[in-house]
Amino acid sequence: MQAPDTIIQPIVETNLRQLYIESYGCAMNFSDSEIIGSIMAEHGFEFTNDEFNADVIFLNTCAIRDNAEQKIRDRLKHLRGNKKQNKDLIIGVLGCMAERLKSKLLEEEKLVDIVAGPDAYRDLPKLVAQVEDGNKAINVLLSREETYAEISPLRLNTNGVSAFVSIMRGCDNMCSFCVVPFTRGRERSRDAESIVNEVKILSDSGYKEVILLGQNVDSYLWFGGGPKVEFKNAEESVKQNAVTFDKLLEMVALVNPEMRIRFSTSHPKDISEEVLQVMKKYDNICKHIHLPAQSGSTRILEAMNRTYTREWYMAKHARIKELMPECSISCDIISGFCTETEQDHQDTLSLMEACQFEFSYMYKYSERPGTLAAKKMTDDVPEEVKGSRLTEIIHLQSKMSLANNKSYIGKTVRVLADSVSKKSENDLAGRNDQNSKVVFPKGQYKIGDFVNVLIERVTTTSLIGIVVP
Ligand code: SAH
Ligand code: SF4
Ligand code: F3S
Repeated sequence: MQAPDTIIQPIVETNLRQLYIESYGCAMNFSDSEIIGSIMAEHGFEFTNDEFNADVIFLNTCAIRDNAEQKIRDRLKHLRGNKKQNKDLIIGVLGCMAERLKSKLLEEEKLVDIVAGPDAYRDLPKLVAQVEDGNKAINVLLSREETYAEISPLRLNTNGVSAFVSIMRGCDNMCSFCVVPFTRGRERSRDAESIVNEVKILSDSGYKEVILLGQNVDSYLWFGGGPKVEFKNAEESVKQNAVTFDKLLEMVALVNPEMRIRFSTSHPKDISEEVLQVMKKYDNICKHIHLPAQSGSTRILEAMNRTYTREWYMAKHARIKELMPECSISCDIISGFCTETEQDHQDTLSLMEACQFEFSYMYKYSERPGTLAAKKMTDDVPEEVKGSRLTEIIHLQSKMSLANNKSYIGKTVRVLADSVSKKSENDLAGRNDQNSKVVFPKGQYKIGDFVNVLIERVTTTSLIGIVVP
């Protein structure tokens, strides 16, 4: 669930108080910033993209790896200059790092005025007022219910083409390496009707793509406001009138058959046959699944508490390809988890080879305080070994990505143009159904157009071609 690096905010000049937001981490955080935007706009704020003109600066932070937090600490150092220029400037740290460190953050970083966790955003206007009264302000309470369901996100980084729609919050999985269950709390699903309504509004406003977001979208479950009934499997839940992820996906796909639907992230243990069947049935559901394996060694997967084996993962992968041969599958891999041996590492490489992932996000294990791994295991793989294994993993993935991209040469792909190419303003960039990046000469086309592109050459990260009828 990756997100762009920075938010581009519209410039508006009025007398309202100016809010500047920077988002870090996963797409959920970028989506949350749009909810924060909506809440703050209701309370007399508007956005500025000039941090030196801001009355309030929010950093919406990530805590997934130590370097994510380091980035925020560096950023806070820089913000000292802003505070020198404007003594009334209010600085808030929001999101996962705020939730992890709680009041410690106020003690450690004197510059920070507000600390607010992911379930406390409705409280932000009050927290700002508290600071204006001369106090520091904090709310890091996690909720079992909060989904911000009825809040219509203020589309901040909008290209007017593609929008994130959050469908659930939190995570109940407890992978032993992961801080998310501690920073985002228990899993809860958002009212299905409010999701479909939001998608309708986006469709009516001309958006061409929605990306349904959750840490584990496949365990989406909504009971329509009725009493919560325990059930054994997806079939039974449908009987009980519950909306499972396959049902939701179908409801969303039916809003507008021209609108592309994507979703992220899927936990291999939870993606169901029903979800795959719905994907196959609807042309507008993009044929791409982000299915993080994390490791190819069953022993390590067990230590990670991922609840599947190497073979189980490979069987799931094979089933997806059997049903939808054109479906791309991407992966997350962690190198150097506690006790990982050279053999475990080789097992990861061989799983990657066997699955031929179209692309992957790859990381060195970073111990997170409070997680099961931090409490019960030793972070015993030396840093340089983590690094050299990661290099091998990245090298293999690049080779496979290039081979996969080369297979497109001479073929025509349907692309939704979503941006101007970073390399040349004469080119547009977009994605095909499989989520590969495609670059082509702009010609008379514009962002938001669907075009057919004949692929002529490729790199490890992009397909490059010309528009054909
Ligand atoms: N919910 C998603 C992942 C969210 S975090 C899922 O389960 O797939 C995104 C990725 O960050 C994870 O898939 C994992 O590969 C990586 N990650 C999480 N914790 C990490 C840690 N402590 N060190 C290194 N990478 C980590
Ligand atoms: Fe973290 Fe695992 Fe939940 Fe993903 S499924 S957010 S890796 S605990
Ligand atoms: Fe996302 Fe980072 Fe939090 S990955 S859920 S912002 S810890």
